[in-house]
Amino acid sequence: MEISIIKGTGRYVPPRCVTNHDLTRWMDTSDEWIVQRTGIEQRYWVPEEGGVGVSDLGLEASKIALERAGWRAQDLDLIIFATLSPDLFFPGSGCLLADKLGLTTTPALDIRQQCTGFLYGMATADAYIRSGMAKRVLLVGAEVHSTGLDVSTRGRDVAVIFGDGAAAVCLELTESDAQEGVLASCLHADGSLAESLMTYAPASRDNPRISEKMLQEGKHYPVMDGRNIFKHAVRRLPEVAGEALEKAGLPLSAVDLFIPHQANMRINQGFAKALDLPEEKVYHNIQRYGNTTAASIPLAFDEAIEKGVIGPGSTVMFLGLGAGVTWGAVLYRFPA
Ligand code: UT7
Repeated sequence: MEISIIKGTGRYVPPRCVTNHDLTRWMDTSDEWIVQRTGIEQRYWVPEEGGVGVSDLGLEASKIALERAGWRAQDLDLIIFATLSPDLFFPGSGCLLADKLGLTTTPALDIRQQCTGFLYGMATADAYIRSGMAKRVLLVGAEVHSTGLDVSTRGRDVAVIFGDGAAAVCLELTESDAQEGVLASCLHADGSLAESLMTYAPASRDNPRISEKMLQEGKHYPVMDGRNIFKHAVRRLPEVAGEALEKAGLPLSAVDLFIPHQANMRINQGFAKALDLPEEKVYHNIQRYGNTTAASIPLAFDEAIEKGVIGPGSTVMFLGLGAGVTWGAVLYRFPA
């Protein structure tokens, strides 16, 4: 049977660490509020003067993942780049990354699924591999949020949450009859909730797409109905976890580690409580990175591997909910 196996992972965050205390210089907030409501203590942001795009962060993470897989960039059949903060409005950051890797013909596609970009990317990579369309896929989740946040008090509910970062995984076609590799993927979307978390401009439905007035109104900054997103996450995450387990024919106890999207520590604690999971089965690193959207799950995955929390034979569930709204889960088992 043809299956998809992860051969290497890597992560990269820019060196500028911004603590909750640092944020109080720009907006009316406090370390206490941020820690209590989200669990976040610090995040990493690209240099304030700019010049570092999301494909630059993706490149650093990709180099590590490729090296660990023992691959050269030329070995890739496909690049999938998940981000909501592309370097340019178009073309996609996957093309820019391919260029930075020295590739001139390798196909590259961008996934604009925000917090579930990695989950949609895993499902897409797996489908390409199992259908015979690709043997070696590089999947990157990366964000540069900091250059697009309203760091005044007006934007504080959103700005304190987001961090910059990137992570990458290398997926390869493998022949195996064991129950391993990508075991199940479940993806969902409900566009009726689009306005609960969005950045309005540049908007093709407006002419021009961006204007002085829009800039003054802050239409180019993300806005979020945090409570509504929170409510949907706490309902959908246990639901989709059950759906993925059913699809794979596995019990809840078969999962060694749940790696949820790092949006809010309270959401993930709510998820653990709903499924009655012991604390150590749900991975958290939001304290140190904030919410890195498409990068958050692979970043946590790479860290958990490095710490030895998971390894050969482990079964992992990736899951998340975010803008769209979109939500999903992917179940993966390392070869023994
Ligand atoms: O990854 C994408 C998916 N996103 C999520 O999953 C986010 C889900 N939602 C959340 O994580 C939470 O809703 C937030 C962390 C965004 C907000 O927490 P909350 O407990 O829902 O707070 P709230 O928005 O209801 O605001 C409570 C109060 C308000 O003041 P009043 O009206 O009660 O006087 C806000 O103005 O907290 C105020 N507030 C802040 N205070 C200090 C909002 N942001 C801040 C801030 N610092 N940064």
